[in-house]
Amino acid sequence: MAEIDKPRREVDVPGDWTYASAPESRDIVHIRDRYGYYVGGEWLEPAETYETISPRDEEPLAAVGQATAEDVGRAVAAARTAYADGWSSLPGSERAKYLFRIARILQERSREFAVLESLNGGKPIKESRDVDLPLAAAHFFYYAGWADKLEYAFPNRRPRPVGVAGQIIPWNFPLLMLAWKVAPALACGNTVVLKPAETTPLSALLFCDVLRQAELPDGVVNIVTGDGRTGAALVESEDVDKIAFTGSTEVGKEIQRRLAGTGKRLTLELGGKAANIVFDDAALDQAVEGIVNGIYFNQGHVCCAGSRLFVQESIYEPLVAKLERRLTTLRVGDPLDKNSDVGAINSAAQLEKIRELVASGVEEGAEIYQPPCVLPEKGYWFVPTVFTNVAQSYRIAQEEIFGPVLSVLTFRTPEEAVEKANNTPYGLSAGVWTEKGSRILWMAQRLRAGVVWANTFNRFDPGSPFGGYKESGFGREGGRHGLEPYLEFDE
Ligand code: NAI
Ligand code: MG
Repeated sequence: MAEIDKPRREVDVPGDWTYASAPESRDIVHIRDRYGYYVGGEWLEPAETYETISPRDEEPLAAVGQATAEDVGRAVAAARTAYADGWSSLPGSERAKYLFRIARILQERSREFAVLESLNGGKPIKESRDVDLPLAAAHFFYYAGWADKLEYAFPNRRPRPVGVAGQIIPWNFPLLMLAWKVAPALACGNTVVLKPAETTPLSALLFCDVLRQAELPDGVVNIVTGDGRTGAALVESEDVDKIAFTGSTEVGKEIQRRLAGTGKRLTLELGGKAANIVFDDAALDQAVEGIVNGIYFNQGHVCCAGSRLFVQESIYEPLVAKLERRLTTLRVGDPLDKNSDVGAINSAAQLEKIRELVASGVEEGAEIYQPPCVLPEKGYWFVPTVFTNVAQSYRIAQEEIFGPVLSVLTFRTPEEAVEKANNTPYGLSAGVWTEKGSRILWMAQRLRAGVVWANTFNRFDPGSPFGGYKESGFGREGGRHGLEPYLEFDE
């Protein structure tokens, strides 16, 4: 028998191709037992603390201060002193140096920050590593570049800083939202008191260490922690000149009422219920990737998430089939595992809200699809979910779920797509998938949304302004537009 004809010995082929876990080491992060407030370059001891945990297993991470109105007052006073003592009159080129330094230090320490962000917030490490951290550093780089060019950004308008900015941020992108708020404020010569969200304070507290490394003058950035009461105290603080808020529409409205008539400046970046619209000439596999990225990125804890999918009727069946098949390949699990696509839900309260809205969808008559999926026993988890057979009036088509839950609806004509997409109190973002450039422009002109993505979704760049219409808020962050809320003009 010729050599080649010999029967081959059976090779041992593994039958199971699931990924082995690849956990990121957490040794790089040192979490203290207890944190105070960072005020005037010093750590203030808190009178009262609460425990911040990891949503992946409810492990306690640290005791964090619950700042009182008095603590907030100290932070605002420190910011005022730093403002008057030189920061506001420092040449822009000098302010830029600090911002460049902060950007570089964030890059150098990015792994440490990424691990901490995933640990405290629940987002998969591949997102904190590849999205949150690079973008946060990019924001500081970008606004460093504007600091000495404000007169060119606003010719003949004599830009000058507003004063002390009070900034309140949410838990879905803790460090990135800090960067969106702090970078433009400092570039324009303001000083800052920032309050991170109660469930995710740790990256903001680690950022204080970056400020020290960068030798930012004391009091230019102050960080106070605590829940909504601390936020409310910051809003009400008399010596704050401007409030910047990102969070729920409910709290945004409350803040706007509180500030009415005070003369304080305000920007609000609130909720969303974005339409992701797929036409029958779109590249379907690419669209499926965009839909998945649009709603399952960061467990759907994204204000601009593509939570309403509008599919042109002729491609409804193949698209939904592809989408459901794709869902079976999403790996839900440990945020610190480099193979995880979907991490933990941020908090018990948020998980409860998602469950309640999903139950309402089933009750109202929508059809639910969830891929087979084994969830960890401890911690807060929700299986990526798709609802079909959704009517526009259902709560899952109207309310922000802020979780990994997609509602699929259909349309026939571009006019109908626009009408249905705009049928929401929100207006933060939208996506359009089509081969036709002219149709993209036609749609973008008619969609009432601050950002319209074409053949992509959830793309961010510091040079591109972001913000809403209607109940999604007002004011823009990012780009040259993002400077304006932090400047006064002599006109
Ligand atoms: P929230 O609006 O209560 O919290 C956001 C921030 O505001 C936190 O730092 C919080 O401590 C602070 N805050 C709460 N009450 C305040 C008050 N009266 N005055 C000043 N600051 C206050 O949002 P929450 O309760 O965490 O989430 C509820 C829902 O809001 C979510 O399910 C989601 O639908 C939406 N949301 C939207 C976000 C967005 O990026 N647009 C971010 C977070 C939540
Ligand atoms: Mg709340």
